[in-house]
Amino acid sequence: MEREINGELLNIPTHVAIIMDGNGRWAKKRLMPRNVGHAEGAKAIERTCRNADELGIKYLTVYAFSTENWKRSVEEVTGIMNIFRKYLVDSIERSNRENMRVCVIGKRDGLPDDIVEKINNLEEATKNNTGLRFNVAINYGGRDEITRAVKAIADKCNNNEFSVEDITEELISNHLDTWDIPDPDLLIRTSGELRTSNFLPWQLAYSEFYFTDILWPDFDKDALIEAIRYYNKRERRFGGVR
Ligand code: IPE
Ligand code: IPE
Ligand code: MG
Repeated sequence: MEREINGELLNIPTHVAIIMDGNGRWAKKRLMPRNVGHAEGAKAIERTCRNADELGIKYLTVYAFSTENWKRSVEEVTGIMNIFRKYLVDSIERSNRENMRVCVIGKRDGLPDDIVEKINNLEEATKNNTGLRFNVAINYGGRDEITRAVKAIADKCNNNEFSVEDITEELISNHLDTWDIPDPDLLIRTSGELRTSNFLPWQLAYSEFYFTDILWPDFDKDALIEAIRYYNKRERRFGGVR
């Protein structure tokens, strides 16, 4: 979709995925505890949802907590879980006001029970909203997601729902957490790291990658527009020739 933004005509990606990195360094620079960075990062999420919607992005998927992030200190993990608790509850009213549908991807197993309940409540309360579709990856790992999909497919084969010959790329996609959304057009990673850290390995196969040194709590509308500008300079070939 083309949109004029401050006098500039830009092709807006349908689905933007973001690895929100740099909360810890943002806090460290200010001699504050890491969890202050995470709280500030949560504000950047709200802001980015509004900005994405205003720019005409239809799907936004953010990496909030990986299956590997449990390796951090108990203090940090507890702090992050408490931020989720607050976010999941506070989001209901705001999401409904902004017509935003919120879905959580990742493994529910291993999350505290009350968080799973809050996720279910938020998803249920916003399921009929037709504006931005916002996906939050919590306890998400791409390899874990593929492993869960393989198990589900193997179970269905065992139950004769389909046979091995019926397994196609489309069938695999349909068993991932992202089964009902298109693949990301653009991946953004903040804080200068140049890796994907187990985020959406299947879905990012043909996405454009944009890396910025901006730390996640500082990510604003101009930064998002800059990423879209970069996306506009790329020529997507999908394996063909132009
Ligand atoms: C990203 O920020 C948020 C999570 C992974 C939960 P970090 O906490 O990884 O911040 P840095 O990379 O240490 O600066
Ligand atoms: C990736 O960031 C996970 C999230 C943003 C939630 P990390 O900070 O955990 O990734 P690494 O450890 O630098 O690869
Ligand atoms: Mg990090």
